[in-house]
Amino acid sequence: MRIAMIGTGYVGLVSGACFSEFGHDVVCVDANPAVIARLEKGEIPIFEPGLESLVERNVRAGRLRFATDTATAVADADAVFIAVGTPSRRGDGHADLRYVYAAAAEIATAARDGCVIVDKSTVPVGTAEEVERICRETAPAKALHVASNPEFLREGSAIEDFMRPDRVVCGVAAGDSHAEGVLRAIYRPLSIRETPILFTDRATAELIKYAANAFLAVKISFINEIADLCEKVGADVQGVARGIGLDKRIGDKFLHPGPGFGGSCFPKDTLAILRTAEEAGSPLKIIDAAVRVNEERKRAMVRRIVAACGGDVRGKTIAALGLTFKPNTDDMRDAPSLAILPALQAQGATIRAYDPEGRAQAEPLLPDLHWCADPYAALEGADAAVLITEWNELRGLDLARAGELMIQRIFIDLRNVYPPEEMRAAGFAYKSVGRPRGDAP
Ligand code: NAD
Ligand code: UGA
Repeated sequence: MRIAMIGTGYVGLVSGACFSEFGHDVVCVDANPAVIARLEKGEIPIFEPGLESLVERNVRAGRLRFATDTATAVADADAVFIAVGTPSRRGDGHADLRYVYAAAAEIATAARDGCVIVDKSTVPVGTAEEVERICRETAPAKALHVASNPEFLREGSAIEDFMRPDRVVCGVAAGDSHAEGVLRAIYRPLSIRETPILFTDRATAELIKYAANAFLAVKISFINEIADLCEKVGADVQGVARGIGLDKRIGDKFLHPGPGFGGSCFPKDTLAILRTAEEAGSPLKIIDAAVRVNEERKRAMVRRIVAACGGDVRGKTIAALGLTFKPNTDDMRDAPSLAILPALQAQGATIRAYDPEGRAQAEPLLPDLHWCADPYAALEGADAAVLITEWNELRGLDLARAGELMIQRIFIDLRNVYPPEEMRAAGFAYKSVGRPRGDAP
């Protein structure tokens, strides 16, 4: 299959590279010439484990190319995927679809008859129909097909998620056997591995994506509230999560308490599905509660840190370890650190920060941090340390060395990475999440 991928960001670049690994002929297009220039030089503009070698291998094999011009790239494509951003619209939380619609018009102008335009961006119900309308209006003489194929990959494990997904969801219009055939051919390497490939109508596919993200967000807010309850009643949230997670109806994934969900998707997608529901007159009270719990969570984390520092952080130095919204990505979009660190600074704290990959994106968003080259440099002279994001290299700190570098041994672990007894043995006043018995004053 000849595939064009419009948008070469976290999803477009991974999806394009993986499709080329399947053996398809792929061209990845981005409107940002700087992104394409870097890719053409063999540089990967984002941090995603395994992506560099995947891209390099497929470029070398002649199956993967990059371009800035949509018209040329889509001219002989069997399928064109739209993988542009759908951020929250300022003010109302709706998904901002302007990039999707602009891409649709550009594709329709240049695509050939029979081309299948596939929406991979996360978009509200009705978007495929609107893309179809744009195609008809832009190129009334062409027979273009519009399908929906939401993406479920996670940053940090994007390649594995794409290559071995739990399922693939494809939405096609009633009777559109051509679009179905093209999507089946594209995903054939996965069907050989017996990955379920689910065909639905387009509205259902569009809603599956939001419902999946919203459900996972609900799970996280749920366990965060249970963690709070554990602290009040003297239970251990790790045990509770394990005890409920072993029930196959519940499942053990996405039950890790922490500073609240962040990232480019859960925050914006929960808001977008709430707006869809509001407009449809069918409120989603559970998702609404999960969003409110998550907002409050970040403020609660600030209070927790201040309390652990004796009730006042004025004039104190805090080492912030891990700033990205999760490990193994450089993505800072809606990272909890963006809410937590400025609040500590506003109360008079100085922040010494370390993140393995997030600095370039974080620097413009978080002014006045003292950036450090490694975790120990961040801990030097600190009155307290806060572990915000559980990067592997932050999971095995040399506690004796850390303690010697710090002015006071106060450690606030927002991801429950460390065994409390180990922290106590190393002389730390330790505060984690939902493990009251492990916390030491
Ligand atoms: P991103 O911001 O990383 O990348 C989008 C890219 O599209 C940018 O590089 C931008 O320059 C480019 N672009 C915008 N308009 C264009 C146009 N007309 N022509 C060519 N390029 C254009 O976004 P992302 O994180 O990859 O997300 C893309 C979509 O996928 C969103 O809808 C998101 O919700 C969804 N999604 C993201 C993830 C994730 O982990 N990031 C996972 C699943 C789904
Ligand atoms: C999420 C979904 O997991 C993907 O399936 C989806 O494709 C993607 O959004 C999307 O639509 O973009 P991602 O945002 O990359 O993927 O990362 P997750 O691993 O889901 O983590 C999201 C946030 O939840 C992070 O801030 C993470 O720290 C937090 N989280 C996750 C928890 O606090 N606890 C958990 O148990 C799991």
